[in-house]
Amino acid sequence: MPKLIVVNRSGEESTVEAASGLTVMEAIRDNGFDELLALCGGCCSCATCHVHVDPAFADKLPGMSEDEDDLLDSSDHRSETSRLSCQIPFTDDLDGLKVTIAQED
Ligand code: FES
Repeated sequence: MPKLIVVNRSGEESTVEAASGLTVMEAIRDNGFDELLALCGGCCSCATCHVHVDPAFADKLPGMSEDEDDLLDSSDHRSETSRLSCQIPFTDDLDGLKVTIAQED
């Protein structure tokens, strides 16, 4: 199973394994990170699954939809590397992906 490295809001790094086919949001949530609220359950309408993605993986991520872009704009903590983790399918290609849970808005 591909590995995902998750950095929480305190800067602590953990490595988790997640089945390919989940979204990055599901992989984080199912591994007990309660900082990632993911309130809408992954339908791209809440922005509480906001993460910063390691730029080394930028080329491997799916493109951003207009809805995702708009939602990220509502965050005070948006950066160049911001994504909504529910919009990123976690595939074998993303093995070793590192994401940092964004500060709460
Ligand atoms: S879980 Fe709501 S936008 Fe991702």
